[in-house]
Amino acid sequence: MQLLDTLSRPLRDLRISVTDRCNFRCVYCMPKEIFGPDYQYLRRDQILTFEEIERLVRVFVAHGVRKIRLTGGEPLVRRDLHLLVSMLSTIPDLDLTLTTNGALLAKQARALKDAGLKRVTVSLDSLDNKIFKTMNDVDFAVENVLDGMDAAAIVGLGPIKVNMVVKRGLNESSILPMARFFREKGYILRFIEYMDVGHSNGWRMNDVLPAAEIIKMIHAEMPLQPLDPSYRGEVAERWRYKDGSGEIGVVASVTQAFCSTCNRARLSAEGKLYTCLFAIKGHDFRDLMRGGATDDEISQEIARVWGKRGDRYSELRSENTLSLPKVEMSHIGG
Ligand code: GTP
Ligand code: 5AD
Ligand code: SF4
Ligand code: SF4
Repeated sequence: MQLLDTLSRPLRDLRISVTDRCNFRCVYCMPKEIFGPDYQYLRRDQILTFEEIERLVRVFVAHGVRKIRLTGGEPLVRRDLHLLVSMLSTIPDLDLTLTTNGALLAKQARALKDAGLKRVTVSLDSLDNKIFKTMNDVDFAVENVLDGMDAAAIVGLGPIKVNMVVKRGLNESSILPMARFFREKGYILRFIEYMDVGHSNGWRMNDVLPAAEIIKMIHAEMPLQPLDPSYRGEVAERWRYKDGSGEIGVVASVTQAFCSTCNRARLSAEGKLYTCLFAIKGHDFRDLMRGGATDDEISQEIARVWGKRGDRYSELRSENTLSLPKVEMSHIGG
């Protein structure tokens, strides 16, 4: 049964965080000052088991979900993730994908593909090691991420998408080199406006480089033309190189909010359902399941939560919304 929220938006896309841990400390996501050695991550018994995730996904699919994106933290640090993929890939009519920082991808690409993963999106913020290492803050080299992408492409996890978060003054000099490089490679590069997710990254509006400026910059060197969305509610606005050499995307969630078609729900590693990336509170499905709820009861709870959803944070963003107690990106993924 198709669910609609209070703004008539269906539920189509479920993003599942499989761990709140990550092997990077990106300055805009898990800054070291906060995510240091004493940071308390979720304990094993607090996070959903693969069986619990699979059970929930089946109920979500019955409610119209058609895309599952596995995220984290970094999803590939969750042990044996390919086993979860093989459980989910038996569910029909599902676009099953994953967002990763690429560090462990070269090692796992084959097992993920064999388990039934369809494609991957890899995050990379610069091709310049000095800038990239400043951003990931764990001295991780660009080449290793590129190796991960290539391994994924070789086993057939393409078309590979690359996510680059742009922070003004930090990596804007990497925009053109990234565009040139991935155009050559044939991977789809998407530029993401830096967002005020969570409350640990010290976001300022001034840090945002508007997507329109990014497009202008690239267009001046490599002419672009807009493309229609490939599906309703697509997050990235698509552009193609006029000479036919590929496409790029921009995710302009700050300067051109896209809440009016937002069909995404997010499940944290501990089983809380969030109806917005900027939600203050999640709805607990772990205790519901562990308390013995039936599939019908879970289904009713999903319908209840989605039915009263009215989130549209990016459309309402202002100085006043900055201080709201929002959930961290590392808890619910992108
Ligand atoms: P494809 O199916 O491959 O096109 O993926 P997608 O369009 O869902 O893109 P992806 O999951 O890679 O999202 C790209 C980035 O957009 C994320 O990393 C987030 O930073 C941002 N993003 C995704 N969904 C939302 C959303 O619902 N709200 C906001 N504000 N940002 C989002
Ligand atoms: N703003 C925009 N994108 C972000 N991501 C993480 N934090 C932010 C932020 N504050 C991106 C990552 C990755 C995806 C999971 O979300 O770079 O591509
Ligand atoms: Fe880890 Fe991704 Fe957050 Fe970077 S953006 S710290 S890779 S979860
Ligand atoms: Fe959806 Fe919230 Fe993002 Fe708007 S801000 S697009 S409602 S997740």
